[in-house]
Formats: sequence, C-alpha cells, structure tokens
Amino acid sequence: MTSIKISYQQVEQQLVATELAAALGLEIIDPSELTRSSKLAHKAESSAGYFLEVSSDGIALVPFTRKAHGPIICDFASSANSHRRKYGGGNGQAIAKAVGLSGKFQPKVLDLTAGLGGDAFVLASLGCQIQLIERNPIVHCLLADGLQRAGYSGNEDRELADIVARMDLIEGDSIHYLEHLNTQQLPDIIYLDPMFPERKKSAKVKKEMQAFHGIVGGDEDAAELLDLALQRAQYRVVVKRSASAGYLGNKTPSYSLEGKSTRFDIFALQKLPG
Ligand SMILES: C[S@@+](CC[C@H](N)C(=O)[O-])C[C@H]1O[C@@H](n2cnc3c(N)ncnc32)[C@H](O)[C@@H]1O
Repeated sequence: MTSIKISYQQVEQQLVATELAAALGLEIIDPSELTRSSKLAHKAESSAGYFLEVSSDGIALVPFTRKAHGPIICDFASSANSHRRKYGGGNGQAIAKAVGLSGKFQPKVLDLTAGLGGDAFVLASLGCQIQLIERNPIVHCLLADGLQRAGYSGNEDRELADIVARMDLIEGDSIHYLEHLNTQQLPDIIYLDPMFPERKKSAKVKKEMQAFHGIVGGDEDAAELLDLALQRAQYRVVVKRSASAGYLGNKTPSYSLEGKSTRFDIFALQKLPG
C-alpha cells in the first residue's frame, strides 16, 4: 500500500502507537528518528512524505516537512464544524436537499466513500442515520479516531456525542458491501463522493487534498460503484462532484444542484415519502 510510518509525541503514547502499527501492519519510528526519516522520505514516493502521529490531540497524518501544511486530523469539535452545525443553513443546504431531507423525511443514508466523514457529519447533524464505508486503512484510522473522540465528548457537548452516535463506520470496500447487501434492508439514499483522477497540481488544489490523493489514489472504480448503487438505493443516489467535472461514468442524472465549487448529481429512483 504505502510506506507510511507511525510515530508518537510523548512517551505515554508509545503503547497506543505500537498497537496501531501492529494493527495496520506499518513500521513504528521513534520521534528522535523523524528528522532522518524525513530526509529519506523526500527521495521516495509522495505518500512517504507523511507519517501518522499519535498525540494527546488524537491521531494525525503529518507531513514530514512542517512547512507543507498542518497535520490532517479528523476533528468534529473544530470551530468550523461547530459553526456549520449552528449557522450552516439546516435543511436548506444543498447536500440536505440532494438527499431529500425535510421535516417529513429523515432518510437513512449509506455513504460509500466516507473519507474524513465531513459530508456524513453534516447529514448526521441534521438528524440522518448514516452508515459510512471507508476502504483505505489510513483514512479509516483517522476517521475512527475522530468519531471516537467526538463520542467521548458527552459531558461537554452532548449534542456532538449524539450526532456521532448516528454515524456508523465500517472498514471495507463498498463494492463488496453492496454486492452482499441484504435486499430486505436497502438504504433510502446512497451517497458517493469519490476522489478525482489526479489533475495537474495547481494552486487551486489544496495541499491537504494533494496529500489525500497521494495516500488514497484516484478511485478509478467509482463508475462501477455508481452502477451498483443505482441497483441498491430505494429512493436516490447522490454523487458529489466538483462543479467543473463531467458526470461520473458519463451517466446523466435526473437533475443537479449546483454550488460555487461543488455539484450534487441526483439520480431519482422513486418518489420520496412524506
Ligand atoms: C473524496 S473522499 C470522500 C470525502 C468525504 N465525502 C468527506 O466529506 O470527507 C473519497 C474517499 O472514498 C474512499 N473510497 C473510494 N472508493 C471506495 C470504495 N469502493 N469503498 C470504500 N471506500 C472508498 C476513498 O478511500 C476516500 O477516502
């Protein structure tokens, strides 16, 4: 997969880091080794430019070159997430409209491309029950850690703990999951937000996104995922794309909701209840 290594900030986190390294089959490096490894990493492939770090803040994906960008960590309690929760526009947000969320219908959503759970978190904060699937072990590890920390926040932020309790993360491949899905329990809505094949590195592509690309790749099987999703969703399949991208798998949706940088392509299969 990747040659990512695992380290830790304080000696108290060494045990957690060691267990994580064993679970992910990755090599652990002592924090004192980081500078030397950093120099070696620059000569290797892009994903080697990062390491996973266990700290008292959680598990982060950290670039060896601190100047590149900050650590990538899944933080559902961040001020940006809290602000969107309170002032983001509720059911009027494009993503909520795309999945058909209304006062009368709170769909059960299956998110086939969990990533760091940002979209799923928005839907869960609006009341949706959401199952998320992530196949990349590093991304899954970051998301599982973020969900766990948010779940522990019950005493200070009951609402946050309740939101993440509606998010159920599964590690695995969504194609396999859909192929084996019990047809008696089809999800109301299936949601997909695959990575794009790598474009020329432009200033517009955020550095964090480039990092993600180096770890995850281009999700080349996304069109196959859409085909399967269309056979398994009860009401809708929603595909998130960048505003300028073509339709996934050249399949024309029933309609699209367009934003400044993002577009939601909606494949309507059945009239929504309510
Ligand atoms: C662009 S990211 C999703 C970002 C997410 N919507 C968010 O808000 O954070 C795409 C993610 O989907 C995952 N993915 C793509 N195809 C998948 C599949 N067949 N099964 C499971 N995960 C998949 C990738 O590993 C990657 O982490």
